[in-house]
Amino acid sequence: MKFPNNFLWGGATAANQYEGGYNKGGRGLSVIDFVPGGKDRLELRVNGGIDLYNMDFDKYTYPNHHGTDFYNHWEEDINLFSEMGFKTFRMSISWSRIYPTGFEDIPNKEGLDFYKQIFLLLKQKNIVPIVTIAHFDIPIEIARELKGWQDKKTIELYIKFATTIMSEFKDYVEYWIPFNEMNAGLFSPLTTLGFDHTKEDKSEEKIYQAIHNQLIANAKVVEIGHKINKNNKMCSMLIGQATYAFDCNPINQLANITEKRMFKYFCSDVMIRGFYPEYALKYFEQNNINIEITNEDSKVLKNNKVDIHTFSYYASSVIDKTNDSRETILNMAHGQSNPFLKESDWGWTIDPIGLRITLNELYERYNIPLMIVENGLGAVDKFENNTVIDDYRIEYLKLHIEQMRDAINLDGVELIGYTSWGCIDLVSASTGEMSKRYGYIYVDLNDDGTGTGQRFKKKSFDWYKNVIHTNGKEL
Ligand code: BG6
Repeated sequence: MKFPNNFLWGGATAANQYEGGYNKGGRGLSVIDFVPGGKDRLELRVNGGIDLYNMDFDKYTYPNHHGTDFYNHWEEDINLFSEMGFKTFRMSISWSRIYPTGFEDIPNKEGLDFYKQIFLLLKQKNIVPIVTIAHFDIPIEIARELKGWQDKKTIELYIKFATTIMSEFKDYVEYWIPFNEMNAGLFSPLTTLGFDHTKEDKSEEKIYQAIHNQLIANAKVVEIGHKINKNNKMCSMLIGQATYAFDCNPINQLANITEKRMFKYFCSDVMIRGFYPEYALKYFEQNNINIEITNEDSKVLKNNKVDIHTFSYYASSVIDKTNDSRETILNMAHGQSNPFLKESDWGWTIDPIGLRITLNELYERYNIPLMIVENGLGAVDKFENNTVIDDYRIEYLKLHIEQMRDAINLDGVELIGYTSWGCIDLVSASTGEMSKRYGYIYVDLNDDGTGTGQRFKKKSFDWYKNVIHTNGKEL
């Protein structure tokens, strides 16, 4: 019962929640900079209403402006990751740090230099970077002028950005994830697609058109990535939570199949198989959704499939078409809780077996290598004596890693890596809180933005170090 010798153990972050320095080094503003923290955030992200022209500093804080300041701490943080023995580190590149408005012809050199020093250090430390090209990140001018991904012109602007970084960093990076959680666009269009769907007529059609535009951009970037370096591994990345039918009522069994399709599989089916699945075309037809799919689009999708499927996994949910009363919000998506499972402080179910189920379902469906690029427990940490005794986090991770081990050894799933989310504390995407922490490294920052920003090792730091050191034998 072991992990493959070259298994990629590591941690994951994203510029929008970690990097900070939002107005430093020539960086332009991004949609996420206008998303406030505080109690309204989740509601505003999911249900719309964020002003993309003004920030209201009297009313709100904007936690993504500072993240946990990787911008000034990158060297210290990478040294800590290296001390833990990371084989890989997942990070994203801020689009508006490279092209401040998105429309420039020439990239911002200071932005490129910022990332270059990071890749140099990672190389020196033998840490393989996995780079997300767009992780909840769209220059604000693209949102204002083009309504984000609604407009096909955004495809070209994105390709320019992706080509710049894939060429510039071709000697350092071989794992590229063009889009983080493309399926998040279905319930949180603002930060993934760059427009407020509540202000649009026929919003579902616009959301699917924007996702289609991302799928085309993805395929084109896969093509370019393979040309820039034949060793490049281009990855799809989706929310991969498990869903169960509430009971053996055939109504719920069928609902679980149909809901899974459009939420869980639609984007990866296109990215991995290279064409629109019949069920999606039928869904569009039945819901009067007209998507412009040209012959050229179909050709591009067919010829440029991804190499690896990556996904996030935090929780599972229950589909019950016969009763809506258990409805809850998990990772911004609606679902229902499960009487057999415990939940985190934020009501996300804790379901390690769901991870094994998900790994099996995905591998049977696609038969290409898989990587878990996000997983972890968002929890309230008690900081005492310069550390956190986070046994609950260790327990969560241990149970999930055991299921990965079983999926590899007992089910034959080809799982090549694992980067737990927020390996260092960072701002929560859904709630904007600092107090929802995932890290092995504690960052002294509070929800209101106060704190020193100093880093401290939690108990899980040494635990994960040993997991990596023993290649998952000791958990
Ligand atoms: C994933 C995102 O959906 O979930 C991350 O890719 C996010 O950006 C993570 O942070 C955990 O969600 P949250 O809301 O707890 O930060």
